[in-house]
Amino acid sequence: MDLAENVIVVTGAASGIGAAMAQRFADEAPELLVLADVNTDGLAAVAASMPHGTQVWPVRLDVSGEAQVRTLVDDVFERAGRLDLYCSNAGVATGAGVDADDSVWERTWSVNVMGSVYAARALLAHATPERRSRLLVTASAAGLLTNLGDAPYSVTKHGAVALAEWLAIHHHDDGLDVSLLCPQGVRTPMVTDGLAAAGPGAVAAGVVESLGLIEPAACADAVAEGLADDRFLILPHPEVADYAAARARDPQRWIAGMRRLLARLSAAPNP
Ligand SMILES: NC(=O)c1ccc[n+]([C@@H]2O[C@H](COP(=O)([O-])OP(=O)(O)OC[C@H]3O[C@@H](n4cnc5c(N)ncnc54)[C@H](O)[C@@H]3O)[C@@H](O)[C@H]2O)c1
Repeated sequence: MDLAENVIVVTGAASGIGAAMAQRFADEAPELLVLADVNTDGLAAVAASMPHGTQVWPVRLDVSGEAQVRTLVDDVFERAGRLDLYCSNAGVATGAGVDADDSVWERTWSVNVMGSVYAARALLAHATPERRSRLLVTASAAGLLTNLGDAPYSVTKHGAVALAEWLAIHHHDDGLDVSLLCPQGVRTPMVTDGLAAAGPGAVAAGVVESLGLIEPAACADAVAEGLADDRFLILPHPEVADYAAARARDPQRWIAGMRRLLARLSAAPNP
């Protein structure tokens, strides 16, 4: 897609990858840039940092509420007549294992998976083959591989990957294009706050950090490049494709390697 002069929604725009995508899209003179998040202070700061002249619309949105997502998408269509790109990027990590409380599993599912389900439903209510919309789902390398230390995150990110693939197959002819963003480590509060925390959250964040962090702006550049190519799978860390291929070829060997990595990292002193 041509990124210039588009009508774009970014969720999770108050921080990290979402804020960096907003900055990157602002370079393309968007017609309207809708920045959505539950964190209104962060949103206001990101909105204020946009280049002069950018049409920015900061909106408080909890992506786990279908009515809110639907209202936002309807409002954008009413105001702009189209919605070219919806970045379903808001996400949460837990640092928890399989024994996490059900409420933690449900909350993670509702943000990391249902947030994109609701976005897809809302876009499909408007999309036609002549007036297409693109949904960019931010999953994670954890959705193609796994995330050591965070069971709800790994499971829900696999769900996000499956959803994106399913939508790309079933709804292309209805006017919905889909892209899937699967970064590995990106230096954002999700990782840095995790590192600063004591306990299991620090283990999961430490694993991500040990694999090497890229800056949010580099992730946003990879997104812009992938979107310009109409690519389905966008991998800011290209090595993730090799890991995914190795995992698919020989899952037993993959799991043995991941066990060794987990043992090594668990034995390391806390960051
Ligand atoms: N940082 C990484 O290493 C990394 C790697 C792979 C994937 N991701 C994914 O990238 C996305 C962005 O994460 P980030 O690293 O920028 O983290 P971040 O914590 O900096 O940003 C996440 C943003 O999402 C918002 N958010 C959380 N729940 C929300 C909800 N219910 N409704 C609306 N907004 C909500 C938060 O307020 C925050 O502004 C997430 O989906 C995350 O899982 C991050």
